[in-house]
Amino acid sequence: MKIRSVLAVFFMSVIFSIYVLASGAEELKPVQLLSPQIGGGKPLMQALKERETRREFSSKELPLQVLSDLLWAACGINRPDSGLRTAPTAKNMQEIDVYVAKSDGLYLYDAKSNMLMPILSGDIRALAGKQPFVKDAPVNLIYVADLAKMGGPSVDADFYSATDTGFVSENVYLFCASAGLATVVRGFVDRPVLAKAMKLRSDQKVILAQTVGYPK
Ligand SMILES: Cc1cc2nc3c(=O)[nH]c(=O)nc-3n(C[C@H](O)[C@H](O)[C@H](O)COP(=O)(O)O)c2cc1C
Repeated sequence: MKIRSVLAVFFMSVIFSIYVLASGAEELKPVQLLSPQIGGGKPLMQALKERETRREFSSKELPLQVLSDLLWAACGINRPDSGLRTAPTAKNMQEIDVYVAKSDGLYLYDAKSNMLMPILSGDIRALAGKQPFVKDAPVNLIYVADLAKMGGPSVDADFYSATDTGFVSENVYLFCASAGLATVVRGFVDRPVLAKAMKLRSDQKVILAQTVGYPK
């Protein structure tokens, strides 16, 4: 009887593992990002000189240190005492969330813990933009405004979520120029389709997306 139960549990776990592998639904785990390497990179004036949009990407993954530096540059905490960030936000609302679509799944950048929090397993990169390179590049950042932090939808919320996203995007452009990465910020996104795939709440709004990878 005991052997039968052990065998039953064994076969159930084998069947479950096969199902998980076949469905691609392996559980995503939180990723602890590394401390930013603030000593590296090109001087600001050189990065400004080299800032540009590129639309051809290698599929090579970004190393964890590079991804960590990229996200910190985007809108990480640069003044830990106050929790203020590398990108300014109107009234310090800090309403722009950076989602990270990679081949293994969708994550949310949590600046406070310096972690990538799992949102969805599975590859949604193909839905992150209407241009063909989007699905193959290793990282697509998706800038989402949390209207709940802005007192709900309003003309001001539209205006400030757009301007605040611009600062994050430019930080990413400059980091990419400094680190020899390719990037393009994109408005050519099917926002309702992407928001549905990301399972966003109705008071979250996709503003822009930005592809990052090594140049091809
Ligand atoms: C708000 C915004 C939206 C953009 N949307 C797209 C886009 O959907 N697809 C794309 O390939 N480039 C997009 N771009 C990139 C621009 O085409 C690019 O910045 C412009 O051609 C100037 O090139 P540069 O960035 O190299 O100076 C966008 C840029 C901005 C600022």
